[in-house]
Amino acid sequence: MRLVRLIANLGYGSRKEVAMMFREGRITDPAGDVLYADDKREHADIRVDGEPLDPGAGLRLLLNKPVGVTCSTKDVGRIVHDMLPERFRLRNPTLSTVGRLDRDTSGLLLLTDDGALLHRIIAPKSRIAKVYEAVLAEDLRGDESAVFASGSLMLESEKTPLLPAGLEVLGPRHARLTLHEGRYHQVRRMFAAVGNHVVSLRRLSVGGLGLGELAEGDWRILDDRDLEAVFTGAETA
Ligand code: URA
Repeated sequence: MRLVRLIANLGYGSRKEVAMMFREGRITDPAGDVLYADDKREHADIRVDGEPLDPGAGLRLLLNKPVGVTCSTKDVGRIVHDMLPERFRLRNPTLSTVGRLDRDTSGLLLLTDDGALLHRIIAPKSRIAKVYEAVLAEDLRGDESAVFASGSLMLESEKTPLLPAGLEVLGPRHARLTLHEGRYHQVRRMFAAVGNHVVSLRRLSVGGLGLGELAEGDWRILDDRDLEAVFTGAETA
């Protein structure tokens, strides 16, 4: 791929702007020698303003999403792209969230520009475990674990019952829920179905991948081992 297109696809600017960056001598090799637009170089051997290029297509990110941020790309409020470097918004292929978390849900959110990977994670048959921690408005009644594990709980306006879900009671109004599917507002609707209300919700893990030390609002690039962890325990997708 020509260098102008390669760098423009990473969101550093339009092709015209990137061509200008070449003319300004801002694109160099690792030794600091200026590169020209029609030079041929490997991705790893290009610097912009002395910095290595962002990773190319196939980018996978883990974000610890704060409350109040939406997964939409166009929202009037704060969006997940506001948590990432400005140029990530302009990448081609586009960086998308892997599924969604509600605006009021915090925690583990994956993003990728790899459509096949995205599909593999969210495909219903992958059955990847997603673990949520919920704080509730009312004390748990005691029958929620059985109701959620039954495989027969039917949410309003759904045509099929929910898959069995695991509930771990952490306190009178505090629980950890493990789901193997991802329906719209699923956790909030499940607790509503047992007469409760979710006050706060946080996703702790997707498959075997957790947030680790990642602080709220922070993100990091995932490597192949992280990806393997996502699929730990998943069924074939
Ligand atoms: N379930 C919900 O209700 N909200 C989320 O954001 C994720 C799962």
